[in-house]
Amino acid sequence: MRGIEAALECRREVRRGAFAPEALRNLGGGLEPPDRVLASSLLYATSRRESLWKHLLGLFLKKPLHALSAETADVLMVGTAGLMELRRFSPQVLVSALVGHVKAGRSPHEAGLVNAVLRRIGEEAPRILEKMERSPDPKEQCLLLGIPSWAGRRWIEEWGKEEARNLWKLSSMKPCLSVRLNRPEKERDFLAGLEKAGIRGWPSPLLEGSCRLSGNPFPPSLPGFAEGWVTPQTESAMLVVEAFLELLDGGPVLEMCSGRGVKSGQLLCRLPEGVPVESWELSPGKVASAKAEMQRIGVSRRAVFKVGDARTLEPEQAPRAVLLDAPCSGSGTWKRHPESKWRLTPERLAQMARLQASLLERAFRLVQPGGIVVYCTCSLFREENEQVVGSVLGSGWDLVELPLSLPGAISVKGKPYGRILWPKLPWIDGFYIAAFMKRA
Ligand SMILES: C[S@@+](CC[C@H](N)C(=O)[O-])C[C@H]1O[C@@H](n2cnc3c(N)ncnc32)[C@H](O)[C@@H]1O
Repeated sequence: MRGIEAALECRREVRRGAFAPEALRNLGGGLEPPDRVLASSLLYATSRRESLWKHLLGLFLKKPLHALSAETADVLMVGTAGLMELRRFSPQVLVSALVGHVKAGRSPHEAGLVNAVLRRIGEEAPRILEKMERSPDPKEQCLLLGIPSWAGRRWIEEWGKEEARNLWKLSSMKPCLSVRLNRPEKERDFLAGLEKAGIRGWPSPLLEGSCRLSGNPFPPSLPGFAEGWVTPQTESAMLVVEAFLELLDGGPVLEMCSGRGVKSGQLLCRLPEGVPVESWELSPGKVASAKAEMQRIGVSRRAVFKVGDARTLEPEQAPRAVLLDAPCSGSGTWKRHPESKWRLTPERLAQMARLQASLLERAFRLVQPGGIVVYCTCSLFREENEQVVGSVLGSGWDLVELPLSLPGAISVKGKPYGRILWPKLPWIDGFYIAAFMKRA
């Protein structure tokens, strides 16, 4: 399969609800590296500014996009994104390949329209975008930067105009991969392996035991990946776990929503053998992935995973420390997972906040007196962060907020609880983190 075909296949998966990395992973290893890069670039360019591509298409189509077949709509979206963003790829080659795809597909009668619309977009859209760039209108800026307009307004209300604009830009930046070194003694070999493979990588200046890479190489192709030397993880996620570890004075430790086990893996690698770590997760599929990850990084003997709802599961032993990495909108990770921003609505956000509050309430209930609870989300909406904490604290818990050890250059104080990691760099996503001790 070639890159453009692969991008269209992934786009179909994403339209049906998959996440981009999952769709790219499902392509398997058969794709040549340049085709994988092209597929990934097209897929992310399409998702990052989906509302802008729809807006442009609306200017050139005589009927609404949704009146066309879903396959043709995908071709138009991918084509528009590619024409506007892939500067080093020939527009003629892109349009011909996309038209060829429609001709060979289920709606060949739409091939002429695709050809005409994409050629006009290639010629006329750059001037439209230039005009939008000069506009001070926040609505136009959100459209241009790929921020859903309601979320753009919400950030203005919460952060003020200037910070919100900054956040829109940071949320549309291209992300890069960072890795956690599960075996810090392998750092030199890892970096040497990267150099041999022609990938630029260097130790993070912010966090020991982690490396920054330029771009987004396919993780299984990294040196020592099969042997478990490294785990792909954002620096922000690593910093959250490090801040949790700083507060710890022993176990048992409970991770209440452990997903695919990235943070549980970090805990197990960093904690001494004698500290029990238990991890809970609602999705059986994610627990299966987490178990495979623990196997890969060599900590499966100590890992205890349970599938179920963290509001009702019972721990093996009362935890001394709880890490609650709550399910959230993921708005701090929009540069990395752009498809998720188009699925979010204010109603869904409110629903998330209710779930987060009940999970946090449970964490306070479960932790031993004198123990700690760390609440975090990869969201930058106060509704999922300070407001959740505030609502739970308001129900009468006897708690003390604890200071967090996070680099000042990338974190700001929450209002009034916790700290916020600002997604300033390609290896850092937005995060919220707050820590409490339950009084004995
Ligand atoms: C932010 S993710 C966790 C990521 C994980 N800590 C990691 O570092 O890999 C939140 C997770 O909570 C899970 N989840 C949602 N509702 C839950 C519930 N009621 N009980 C347990 N897990 C839940 C989701 O499936 C999702 O995997």
